[in-house]
Amino acid sequence: MPALRNYDAIIIGAGAAGMYCAALAAQRGRKVLLLDHSPEPGRKILISGGGRCNFTNIGAGPANFLSANPHFAKSALSRHTPADFIALVERHHIAWHEKTLGQLFCDGSARQIVAMLLDECAAGGVHTKFGSAATVEHRDGAFETATARAPSLVLASGGLSIPKLGATSFAYDTARRFGLKIVEPRPALVPLTLSGEEALFSTLSGVSAEVVARAGKGTFREAALFTHRGLSGPAILQISSYWRHGDPVAIDFLPDLAPGWLRAPKRAEPRTTLRRALARYLSDRLAETLAAQLALPGELANLPDRALDAAERRLAGWTFTPNGSEGFAKAEVTIGGISTAELSSQTMAAKRVPGLYAIGEAVDVTGWLGGYNFQWAWASAHAAAQAL
Ligand code: FDA
Repeated sequence: MPALRNYDAIIIGAGAAGMYCAALAAQRGRKVLLLDHSPEPGRKILISGGGRCNFTNIGAGPANFLSANPHFAKSALSRHTPADFIALVERHHIAWHEKTLGQLFCDGSARQIVAMLLDECAAGGVHTKFGSAATVEHRDGAFETATARAPSLVLASGGLSIPKLGATSFAYDTARRFGLKIVEPRPALVPLTLSGEEALFSTLSGVSAEVVARAGKGTFREAALFTHRGLSGPAILQISSYWRHGDPVAIDFLPDLAPGWLRAPKRAEPRTTLRRALARYLSDRLAETLAAQLALPGELANLPDRALDAAERRLAGWTFTPNGSEGFAKAEVTIGGISTAELSSQTMAAKRVPGLYAIGEAVDVTGWLGGYNFQWAWASAHAAAQAL
């Protein structure tokens, strides 16, 4: 058997977190091996943000993340901020713009971010091995793969989202082997599906509206989109992270209108209908479907105020009860993962297994939609790299 090559750290997973951690640790003088079973690094970065990579959010802070321990992310996020990452992007002359809600995208292509990370790895002399499955053994206090040995191992192989892009349970399985707890992984930032009577909304497939959507402790004002299977769009993806099976999702279709808004057209244009009153604010198809569901036919003049008030209340809190989500095949991220109770928030090192680290999406820290998940990948990678 050929002798194993010695490194200071082996990093499994050449996604956002793994590449960044490898580059930063190597530039601090560490000898680093970066492994990925996929032949191409950074595949999720390449398709992210519609191919332009929403690489951070200028407002990113602990409140934008879900975790069993909401305090865990504070340390890493505060020690590596969006401004730090933007400075790197600018050093690489990558043009960027703010799209909306603090979301920063490349003007050109997500390929520039992958190229930047690979350049940074090369600058530190990171060794890479892409395209072969990783196996890890633990012997005499060191971690061994088929060809390498190191006192430190970084789990950066992400969560379960989008298996066809190379997602596996490697980080969770390895963490479990070392006795670390896993917070049950669930699909998040994912479309929700409707069945039964609610499936009739599938006739609205392609229709969107700016709404306020609520589920559990999540409330988001963004666009919602009807699909042939249920509900999607940014507002729905955001609340999917807070949604649990059996929970209702409440949608305010007219968040800018004050209570009593239907009484005004009743007085001013008594012959108008509910459908026409709704069509002033919503697309025709949505107005038609909602009016049909509210079953208040005829002219507003003939409808009692209390019926109009009840219709307003329903429109402000229309409840859907999704029967599920589109699952890991469509989920942008995985909520849950390696329990933060097992890790140091300063270094991302496992408290009970010397030399073992976990970063990025593999950890039970999940960001909102809008560049937050990459910011967590950069920040957690940076925290580990300082400790390697
Ligand atoms: P990531 O999943 O990026 O990388 C893990 C790596 O480990 C992969 O290269 C994989 O091949 C490798 N791996 C897995 N199993 C392995 C094994 N057994 N052996 C070896 N290697 C293994 N976020 C954001 O902030 N802005 C955005 O614009 C988007 N857009 C977006 C679009 C889409 C379609 C998706 C699916 C996701 C996003 N995200 C996003 C989320 C973001 O992509 C995600 O949170 C980060 O990529 C997580 O980075 P990690 O490095 O932790 O995992």
